[in-house]
Amino acid sequence: MTTARKPSRTVFACQECGYETPKWLGRCPDCASWNSFSERAKEQGTRTMGGPAAPPVELSHLPGEEEPRLAFGLPEFDRVLGGGAVAGSLALIGGDPGIGKSTLLLQVASLVAGANGGRVLYLSGEESARQVKLRAARLGVKGDGLFVLTETNLDAALREAESLSPALLIVDSIQTVYSEGAAQAPGSVAQLRQCTMDLMRWSKGCGVPAFLVGHVTKDGDIAGPRLLEHIVDVVLYLEGERFSSYRLLRSVKNRFGSIDEVGVFEMTGEGMAGVDNPSEAFIAERASGAAGSVVVPTLEGSRPLLVEVQALTSPTAMPTPRRTVNGLDFNRLLLVTAVLTRRAGLALAGQDVIASVVGGLRVHEPATDLALALAIVSSHRDRPVPPDLVAVGEIGLSGELRSVAQVERRLAEAERLGFRRCLLPQASLTRSKPKTGLEMLPAATLRDAIRLAFGS
Ligand code: TYD
Ligand code: MG
Repeated sequence: MTTARKPSRTVFACQECGYETPKWLGRCPDCASWNSFSERAKEQGTRTMGGPAAPPVELSHLPGEEEPRLAFGLPEFDRVLGGGAVAGSLALIGGDPGIGKSTLLLQVASLVAGANGGRVLYLSGEESARQVKLRAARLGVKGDGLFVLTETNLDAALREAESLSPALLIVDSIQTVYSEGAAQAPGSVAQLRQCTMDLMRWSKGCGVPAFLVGHVTKDGDIAGPRLLEHIVDVVLYLEGERFSSYRLLRSVKNRFGSIDEVGVFEMTGEGMAGVDNPSEAFIAERASGAAGSVVVPTLEGSRPLLVEVQALTSPTAMPTPRRTVNGLDFNRLLLVTAVLTRRAGLALAGQDVIASVVGGLRVHEPATDLALALAIVSSHRDRPVPPDLVAVGEIGLSGELRSVAQVERRLAEAERLGFRRCLLPQASLTRSKPKTGLEMLPAATLRDAIRLAFGS
């Protein structure tokens, strides 16, 4: 005879990623972190049986107008959101510590508070009101209409928000606030989820957009929860190299717009300034006639950006030569050096290879392969590529050049900045000829491309 087991009332949840299991585990099968499970009460279903539910509505009877948006008047920021923040939307903004999240959001807050007398609530769990004031002073923000609240109890904060009725709410950061509805410590997965849900409810309820700052893990994901990304409407990442002043604001999720837009900023002494002409900025310091430098028209989302790829080869003192990248994908460098060795006969076995993207940018598009390869050849032969040449193309393992997307956009950007020639994959021209004023140098293989670039 078998006895029916009582269903368990608790579950074990991974504090790193939110994975749930009925039994304790030493290692999370989902995110592979050790000793990250803790027990909590199982959530009861939120759906009440028998209660009245809103009746289904025929799609054709739903109103179809665009959502109203709050535009900030900071073009690079508005662009990433798709023209401003939609009323009642919840956005999460992640990024390394010190990258400028608080600075950017304080600027955004001041624009809303300053422009049309709208009030903004800046909930700071991370810094004291004095610290916020000091930053505001540095940004030249007087702060009329901008209310700072240093409260970590989210329920209390939302009660304040209710009476203030702001036009914008900022929570810096979601990891520092806690909700009375969950028993765990601030920053735990259960708390993060509860707080985000509470904010979602508040935001949707009163139609006010909210921005949440989220910490990132050492791998660069927003800390703890992928699950936060599922709850919120918009996920933005602010990225850049610590020691470079350029910052990219990228959207990885946007329920109200495309995720193809990036915003480019420069961290200045007075906060983040939008960069109107990023391509110009990224190639501004290029030394003309230097070996090992090639410009590539990359695409960040749908935005063409010219960036300079540099490479340096030097005889190695090590038994195995070193390969180092900065701003490029390490595996792409390995692929490109292997193809150069095997398919183009370049003797790189005794050479260290260092490759980097200038300006603190990270470029992971395979379309950068050709520029990287040519920069390595250029450094190895100590011969510069012609200064008016850009190169774009993905390299395959047999040394073939593979086509890239949106060639016309890239060419237009290169032309705009005064380049006159473009080396590109033959395959990119088979379907349609791009309209451009640039001279096109199509190549089928890496060997051909090298010949075209160096004349031998
Ligand atoms: P911050 O916004 O505090 O970063 P986060 O909130 O992402 O951790 O930015 C801190 C850095 O920015 C700090 O190193 C100082 C620098 N900074 C400027 O260069 N200019 C400025 O106007 C401000 C306010 C900060
Ligand atoms: Mg901060």
